[in-house]
Amino acid sequence: MIYFDNAATSFPKAPTVANAMTRFLAEDAANPGRAGHRMAVRAEEMVDGVRLKLSRLVNAQAHERMIFTLNCTDALNMGLKGLLTVKHDAADVPHVITTVLEHNSVSRPLQSMADDGVIQLTRVACDEDGFVSADVIEAAIKPNTKLVVMTHGSNVLGTIQDITAIGQLVRDRGLLFFVDGAQTIGVLPIDIQAMNIDMLAIPGHKSLLGPTGIGALYVGPRCPDPQLDKFTPWREGGTGGDSATPTQPPLWPYYLEGGTPNTVGIAGLDAAIDYVLENDMTKTLAHEQKMVQTLIDRFKNDERFTFYGTLDASKRVGTICLNIQGYEPSDVGTILDDSFEIAVRPGLHCAPYAHKQAGTFPNGSVRISPGAFNTDEELEQLIDALDQIAG
Ligand SMILES: Cc1ncc(COP(=O)(O)O)c(C=O)c1O
Repeated sequence: MIYFDNAATSFPKAPTVANAMTRFLAEDAANPGRAGHRMAVRAEEMVDGVRLKLSRLVNAQAHERMIFTLNCTDALNMGLKGLLTVKHDAADVPHVITTVLEHNSVSRPLQSMADDGVIQLTRVACDEDGFVSADVIEAAIKPNTKLVVMTHGSNVLGTIQDITAIGQLVRDRGLLFFVDGAQTIGVLPIDIQAMNIDMLAIPGHKSLLGPTGIGALYVGPRCPDPQLDKFTPWREGGTGGDSATPTQPPLWPYYLEGGTPNTVGIAGLDAAIDYVLENDMTKTLAHEQKMVQTLIDRFKNDERFTFYGTLDASKRVGTICLNIQGYEPSDVGTILDDSFEIAVRPGLHCAPYAHKQAGTFPNGSVRISPGAFNTDEELEQLIDALDQIAG
């Protein structure tokens, strides 16, 4: 199988990940922080070490505010609902700005909260090339705007958003900035402090090359404090240390980390981060962008093919969507799988508003997403297969 579906989850994983997980499972897999015995202490040390490593990777101020989650969806829900479902007067409904580029893990929770009258919601458009400008965000700000939430990289158009400029605007206007790092963490540097990010959602299983089942949410110091009862815990339960308080103890990270964490996943993420740091993520991004540019250049003047978003791959992560004249995207996906053993992702990619804006709703397009380990030969096989299918 030739795998070009890395925007969904990377494959293969970093070569060190499986061994790290097996070793932890065989030797140290006690419940961290739940008992004083030496295995529990070792597990706790490992978890805290990875918390620190991940915080350093994104230049986060306080590593105890890096919360382990199941995936990026879990992190996004935890942040959005934590921040927005606190009690407020009916006259004080907060306004939230988001974009058409968002994944359903942002759009769906926001839309449910808007439908329930918990928030007011504005969804701003991107331009023809697939970029949301700071000016468009600025024009949407109202007196009751509290939060801007957006993706760093589109999982449909692949476009890298200017979160540095938008973060500066959001900070200047005294709002909170929540960034979905799903498509960029591991290939693009993210600096929470320089980019004025207040909350960051991270998956471990995409370009960080870690296992599924582990992600993180960073909740920065400008976000309301649980001590003041202004951040709602997404799940409540055992936190290990403090069993006496009747509700969730207001201490980072335990306030948001009820339940036994995925320590095996965290051990895998540990090895994955080391690998990503040792292998220079700018080179990985350049490798993926080169593949996308080769694909664009091969077919951009061919009327059988349509691409969506900018044709300049240096403004993208390694993701490109296309359609072939006369074919449903799902048929292209099936033919690539059945006849060529090539994995891609057809459809709406959990981002219906991006497809509406691109004019590809409801059938979507074929997403091709090269990753760190794809080779030029694999790309040539894909190009040849697409050419054959297009006839
Ligand atoms: C932009 C974006 N945000 C959020 C998610 C959700 O990530 P996860 O699958 O880790 O929950 C994805 C997944 O593809 C994504 O592409």
